[in-house]
Amino acid sequence: MIVFDQVSFWYKDLTETSFRLKEVSFSLAKGCINGIIGGNGSGKSTVARLMTGLMPVNSGTVTVFGKDPYHQLLHSGFLAGIIFQNPENQIVGATVEEDLAFGLENLGLSHAEMHCRIIETAARFGLGSLLREPVANLSGGQKQLLCIASVMVMEPAWVIFDEPTSHLDPWSRIDFWKIIDEFVHHHDLGVVIVSQLAEDLARYERILGFSSGSLLFQGSREEFKQAGAEIHEHFNYPEEWKYEQLLAAEHA
Ligand SMILES: Nc1ncnc2c1ncn2[C@@H]1O[C@H](COP(=O)(O)OP(=O)(O)OP(=O)(O)O)[C@@H](O)[C@H]1O
Ligand SMILES: [Mg+2]
Repeated sequence: MIVFDQVSFWYKDLTETSFRLKEVSFSLAKGCINGIIGGNGSGKSTVARLMTGLMPVNSGTVTVFGKDPYHQLLHSGFLAGIIFQNPENQIVGATVEEDLAFGLENLGLSHAEMHCRIIETAARFGLGSLLREPVANLSGGQKQLLCIASVMVMEPAWVIFDEPTSHLDPWSRIDFWKIIDEFVHHHDLGVVIVSQLAEDLARYERILGFSSGSLLFQGSREEFKQAGAEIHEHFNYPEEWKYEQLLAAEHA
């Protein structure tokens, strides 16, 4: 469970106009695909960073499995892994294999177990034939897949994905969602996905909607569909859902 209780946060240079996350409360459970939506600058990545414990809150509390992720990250490693919005910020290895091995080295695994996990994860993300490839030679989409694979290889309990499909082609996106679906529903992985793409929104089973640092909506996909225009106007509401509702209204 990830719980935000009355969380406020601001970056250091607080002025009247600067961004502020405003007393945000929610809880997210494993077993379903949790999604965060909101326009540019609404606070999605900020919430993702707070979940991972990359920075402390100014007031309120964040807990992951009942523990403070900031304190935990400082002292004994992460509670929730994060895949950053920009793949360039995340890659640390010179080759695909090195990058996949990097996080594993601190987990105290045997050499055989590490090797096994790397091969399996690389294959799952379509990187199996690129293990010796210098990271610099990868395409933008391949780098994004590598970032995802390098976190997943550590088998964290929760993973926060910040715009994970932005560089992926339509086929890789379908594969990405297949993997997420399998891990969430069959391997007990807790998942939070930040994405503004309408096609991704349709995959979310629970939705948090942010606008200017305020949590405007939280609920299921069905509840989001039923929310009024005063909520929908703040988000990239899928065209097909609008048609669906028009049709339903006509047949009512
Ligand atoms: N390191 C930082 N220092 C100061 N201000 C920041 C920092 N990171 C983000 N901000 C500001 O906080 C606000 C929210 O940023 P955040 O990155 O959380 O938005 P976002 O919803 O992820 O946007 P996007 O869709 O563009 O990724 C923005 O106004 C941004 O300028
Ligand atoms: Mg962002």
